[in-house]
Amino acid sequence: MSKLSDRRIEQLALAAVDACGRAYAPYSKFEVGAAILMHDGQVIVGCNVENASYGLSLCAERNAAAAAVAAGHRKWRGVAIASIGGVPPCGACRQFLAEFGLDMPIILVNLIDGARSVCNLSELLPSSFGPDDLPKSG
Ligand code: THU
Repeated sequence: MSKLSDRRIEQLALAAVDACGRAYAPYSKFEVGAAILMHDGQVIVGCNVENASYGLSLCAERNAAAAAVAAGHRKWRGVAIASIGGVPPCGACRQFLAEFGLDMPIILVNLIDGARSVCNLSELLPSSFGPDDLPKSG
């Protein structure tokens, strides 16, 4: 199972906290920041962005993942998520992240006490459906 050094965990956690500070969550007031570590050491972040049409709200993790892909990165080393309570990603975000690697360290940062907990995406999304489950075309 893929692991990150303490230094990397700290770097990623701080980036997620920083991104959380830019969340746009005027409706739920629940701010979330996410940071994804690329293989070249670059960190790409996202925050949740809500909308007056509630259903259009975007989660921090998916925003970060889309930004990483748009920047040309499809393989990542880990993801940190910062929120009050250090909550795990929603089901949709688990599935979205799994597209790019199920063996992925996930660092949950609790903004209340600064606590970090580390798990693996494969634990959060057991018996998952992914790209390999689709029939090969051609
Ligand atoms: N949210 C995230 O950004 N990530 C998650 O994994 C769970 C929920 C956001 C969406 C919404 O803006 C707010 O948290 C409350 O659900």
